Amino acid sequence: MRSTHEAPNWRTYKMSYSDPHKELEPEGDEIAVVDGALVTLRDAGVIDDVSYDHAKFDAHRAAVRDNFDIPWTAITPRMQRLLYAINAIHKPEVMIAVGIFCGNTYISNAGAGVGPGAVYTPRRSVGIEIRTEEADRARRNVASIDPDGVGEIHGCDGIEWLREFDDSVDLLYIDADGRDGQGKRIYREIAETALPKMPAGALVIAHNSVNSARDLAEYFALVRDESEFGASVNVFIDGEGIEVSRKAPPSAGGGRKRTASRRHGDALPP
Ligand SMILES: C[S@@+](CC[C@H](N)C(=O)[O-])C[C@H]1O[C@@H](n2cnc3c(N)ncnc32)[C@H](O)[C@@H]1O
Repeated sequence: MRSTHEAPNWRTYKMSYSDPHKELEPEGDEIAVVDGALVTLRDAGVIDDVSYDHAKFDAHRAAVRDNFDIPWTAITPRMQRLLYAINAIHKPEVMIAVGIFCGNTYISNAGAGVGPGAVYTPRRSVGIEIRTEEADRARRNVASIDPDGVGEIHGCDGIEWLREFDDSVDLLYIDADGRDGQGKRIYREIAETALPKMPAGALVIAHNSVNSARDLAEYFALVRDESEFGASVNVFIDGEGIEVSRKAPPSAGGGRKRTASRRHGDALPP
């Protein structure tokens, strides 16, 4: 079971990877695009609500802009807002992000529970990066806005770490690119390793579901399998995109009912 959500101008919305803080559109337009995606995710049964604290998001964005050392990133302003919002709405007790490079992808998810944008306190908020020098950079970046030390960064292989992890995973964010030509095909193995630790209702978010769709064919087959995931939506708000999937209850045999996808511009409910 699958659906898609497309913002009308996702093809022309472009960011320079070396200039991630540049405003690309009026804030109201960015908010409307993200609201459209949230409505589709809510209607598909992936998330339960569509509202998030805009002032807290602004505090998160400002803290990252002013403190993080980001050599480059593919996280657009729209995607930064959408990842924050999904986490702020879902409030995962345990959030694990795999393949976080300098930490911007991690904090885009973790910012709802770590730092000045926090709207709840997670039990664990974990970022994993296999290149130790980038893990060290990510750790420094996160520490610069996380005086309470809620976030944790590990410099190791995310698959091996997940295998040993002895707790539940309530939200898994995947952004790794495997070595030796494996690239984004590594997503399926990461998801399958975490799956037995994910309770019903847990979310998986996969970055690059648009521009790496060909390499993600096996991953899509997993998260669009109704016996595993009750709902899965490919969200086109920029050239990278995310697929957001919600784990079904064990006996659901198809999980939640899917409703029609809405498009950007649909009104939010009162
Ligand atoms: C393309 S980068 C992600 C960058 C991100 N999209 C951004 O915009 O900042 C992918 C990262 O995954 C890391 N990676 C690859 N395999 C991994 C694994 N098995 N465990 C953890 N990290 C991994 C790579 O070292 C790399 O830094």
